[in-house]
Amino acid sequence: MKNAIYPGSFDPVTYGHLDIIRRSASVFDELIVSVLNNVKKTPLFSVEERVKILEKATEDIPNVKIESFSGLLVDYARARDVHVIVRGLRAITDFEYELQNAQTNRLLSKGALDTMFFTTSLEYAYLSSTTVREIASFGGDISGCVPDFVEKMIFSKFGIPK
Ligand code: PNS
Repeated sequence: MKNAIYPGSFDPVTYGHLDIIRRSASVFDELIVSVLNNVKKTPLFSVEERVKILEKATEDIPNVKIESFSGLLVDYARARDVHVIVRGLRAITDFEYELQNAQTNRLLSKGALDTMFFTTSLEYAYLSSTTVREIASFGGDISGCVPDFVEKMIFSKFGIPK
């Protein structure tokens, strides 16, 4: 079985992430979308909330499984017997960070873990979770960035009635 892990913060998941999930799920038998539990960051949504949001947003894609992980990605992938990481590339600005991560993971795993990149669809090239959080915190329009139910949850986090 060909499987892969799409790791990320997903705080919150955007249409850009969902585009990568849909396209990569069509290439693999199973795609594990995994939320990083990063103790160094104070996220908008807890890991549990992000897992639930992702489950709902991907409920129509049967070969997608949602999980969370902490620690090193290579250790998590080894425990799941997964050898491919999926990541999205938006622009040249993503490239350096992604290249470094991919090469580090390959090195740490002694060649057992490779990264496959999906280039983001043009309509989502500008999208990031950081931008979505920033716009929402000022009550701006994020309807083109995230699914409706996520939009409601974000504004409720910021205490903004919508
Ligand atoms: O959505 P993000 O925040 O860009 O995702 C980053 C992520 C989760 C892919 C990356 O931070 C990660 O893999 N963290 C786990 C810790 C780890 O393995 N670090 C070494 C890789 S360089």
